[in-house]
Amino acid sequence: MYNLLKGKKGIIFGALNDKSLAWKVAERAYEEGAEFILTNTPVSMRLGEIDALAKACNTKVIAADATNVEDLENLLKQTMEHFGGKIDFILHSVAMSMNVRKNRTYDDVDYGFFMKTLDISAISFHKLLQSCKKIDAINDWGSIVALSYVAAQRTLYGYNDMADAKSMLESIARSFGYIYGREKKIRVNTVSQSPTLTTAGSGVKGVEGLMDFTERMSPLGNATADEFADYCITLFSDLTRKVTMQNLFHDGGFSSMGMSLNAMSMYNKSLENPIPDDILR
Ligand SMILES: NC(=O)c1ccc[n+]([C@@H]2O[C@H](COP(=O)([O-])OP(=O)(O)OC[C@H]3O[C@@H](n4cnc5c(N)ncnc54)[C@H](O)[C@@H]3O)[C@@H](O)[C@H]2O)c1
Repeated sequence: MYNLLKGKKGIIFGALNDKSLAWKVAERAYEEGAEFILTNTPVSMRLGEIDALAKACNTKVIAADATNVEDLENLLKQTMEHFGGKIDFILHSVAMSMNVRKNRTYDDVDYGFFMKTLDISAISFHKLLQSCKKIDAINDWGSIVALSYVAAQRTLYGYNDMADAKSMLESIARSFGYIYGREKKIRVNTVSQSPTLTTAGSGVKGVEGLMDFTERMSPLGNATADEFADYCITLFSDLTRKVTMQNLFHDGGFSSMGMSLNAMSMYNKSLENPIPDDILR
């Protein structure tokens, strides 16, 4: 360990169980000397295992729905009270689509669900940033990271309205990052992570086939949750103080590939078994 986060204080959103990307970040941040508050919705706190993580990281959980500004303000104020001052980093690892959950395809979305997807998975990030700025919760040179996916730039089968949410999320990181950087020297970035088998990740249609494809397409292979945590620690550390307003691909090179030798040989084999009509959407 490198003590990269010694003396730093933060908030980590979105640890549901030990598969969660946020869970891995919490474990690594703790190892690197950070102190932080964990947060999730009351329902996820009941259904998940966040209390065990809090115990392991010698901290506590404060409930907040990331779409509710009052909850966010309360979380920030309680966290500042707990630490006796401002904080240095936040991980926003929050997303949900009812259209994905209910198997509503992109040409048959429920618009109520669609609005909820955008609110939970993108606008919540704006709500968080705006609340932080109004309360002046973050120290100069602090770092805020949200989780994105390459479906923001390229169409991937089955990702549905989450693709729109991720595009918006990345845009919010740039737009708010400009203001927060200019006025407070605070960094705002998104990390675009490889597909990973978490609770949210497993909800994406055909995720295991997708992961096999991205593994074959990426020169370095898929990035794991543990590797994501390592990368995230560098973004919270002082070693990346001039990185802001970026969408940073952490995907083994997938996003820059067109076709790899490995994927091409699988594709050639698959031509012998054509895709059935009913999954051609
Ligand atoms: N797993 C992947 O393949 C993958 C790839 C790229 C990006 N991501 C992103 O990573 C982030 C974390 O997802 P994960 O894969 O660790 O899955 P996960 O299911 O473990 O985490 C999602 C979290 O969002 C929380 N959440 C949902 N609604 C909320 C709300 N209203 N307020 C606060 N929290 C809420 C859930 O309780 C859960 O803890 C998401 O933004 C996801 O889109 C995941």
